[in-house]
Amino acid sequence: MNHIILKNMINTQKYIRDNKEKFLSELFQLLRLPSISADPKYSKDVVATAEMVRNNLEKIGLTNCKLFETDGFPIVYGEKIIDSNLPTVLIYGHYDVQPPDPIDLWKSKPFEPEIRNEKIYARGACDDKGQFFMHVKAVESMISAGELCCNVKFMIEGEEEIGSENLEIFVKNNKQLLSSDVILISDTGIISNDTPSITTGLRGLSYVEVEITGPNRDLHSGLYGGAVANPINILCDMVSSLHDEKRKITIPGFYDNVEILSKSEREIMAKAPFNIEKYKEELDIKDVLGEKEYRTMERNSIRPTLDVNGIWGGYTGEGAKTVIASKAYAKISMRLVPNQSSDEITKLFKKYFESIAPAGVKVKVTPHHGGEPYVSPLNEKGYKAASKAMNKTFGKEPIPVRSGGSIPIVALFESELGLKSILMGFGLDSDAIHSPNEHYGLFNFYKGIETIPYFFKYFAEK
Ligand code: BES
Ligand code: MN
Ligand code: MN
Repeated sequence: MNHIILKNMINTQKYIRDNKEKFLSELFQLLRLPSISADPKYSKDVVATAEMVRNNLEKIGLTNCKLFETDGFPIVYGEKIIDSNLPTVLIYGHYDVQPPDPIDLWKSKPFEPEIRNEKIYARGACDDKGQFFMHVKAVESMISAGELCCNVKFMIEGEEEIGSENLEIFVKNNKQLLSSDVILISDTGIISNDTPSITTGLRGLSYVEVEITGPNRDLHSGLYGGAVANPINILCDMVSSLHDEKRKITIPGFYDNVEILSKSEREIMAKAPFNIEKYKEELDIKDVLGEKEYRTMERNSIRPTLDVNGIWGGYTGEGAKTVIASKAYAKISMRLVPNQSSDEITKLFKKYFESIAPAGVKVKVTPHHGGEPYVSPLNEKGYKAASKAMNKTFGKEPIPVRSGGSIPIVALFESELGLKSILMGFGLDSDAIHSPNEHYGLFNFYKGIETIPYFFKYFAEK
């Protein structure tokens, strides 16, 4: 296998330099399709995107390229098996995107990609079309240069943003097809363009919708106000009682299994560069807020949280209407950390939330999709290969970082396939994923394409 080890990716890097414009215009085509998985109005576009991804895989020389139909959107698959003695890298990503709303706040149209100050502006530019596409182009480059040194499989799904429920079934039923040595994913970020990092943890998720019902109809707030429970007032009371004065979550048992990091682990974390003043300035806030005794970068990564994502009820139209609404609603997410279980936490939430409601209202708690947290050790072959690859292209050793975000399928890859995932993403927190004006730096797009071949090289070396 010596001939493989000698492959130093020089021809691959030349191919990348020579094809930068082509890569970008191909990405633009993908970004033009509104593959919004959450909105049934766009289901044709989501399927068209799957087909475009499949065609892209075929065009770069992969075999067995196909769409696997599911009860939802198709899963795109393609592979190149060059030698059964070589390791196999399974690349995962998602071609679906978040809805672009609020549309008015976009400077350019979300599905008409545009370059401004060296950044690609479009929904999905960073999350995750721009990022999974780096793998397609990196593999194309290695194949064209005759330097592909691992077998490779692609699995790109269309339901990540809505919980990956059909992918879960697909993974359970296709273990042989997906057999590989490591999973490589670019759907996370780095600390900054001059501070590379690798994501070593993701938080899990419990997501619930709550409905508070008071009187059987909307009431005149003068005739009935003060005499009956107002569901909106009550919902606000209940929501605010979910945190105490130290910003700890009050649900009994919520912290029971939370992994506690040692002092030295926390000290290592604190060494990662972070400027609280810049952070506040960037968000235009006077101060941060979170759980006492934890740093900002711990609050959003190694600690569990509870947040209202949406709250509604009553009159929200023009002018004033004096009314006590019959119902009030909220959507609530809880981010979970290692050793918390999504089902368990959802149950604890439901039990507690029902218990704190006054007798004057009825409570309904409806659980949504969830996911388990994930951590990956630093002594894995895959982590080391990613670290060496980033060191090579950034000229600096990447810092391991636990992320606050969630990719629920990653924990399932581990439990079902027995495979660790390497989260080598190239986005920035400031890329505005899920927000208006999502963007992805040209620097990041090309840096990813350059780095991925080195991952293959170092992963192939024993
Ligand atoms: N790619 C993100 C997750 C992410 C982004 C992790 C940046 C770490 C850093 C993914 O597409 C996403 O948005 N996940 C959702 C969960 C899903 C169940 C909707 C999330 O984290 O809210
Ligand atoms: Mn994503
Ligand atoms: Mn996302």
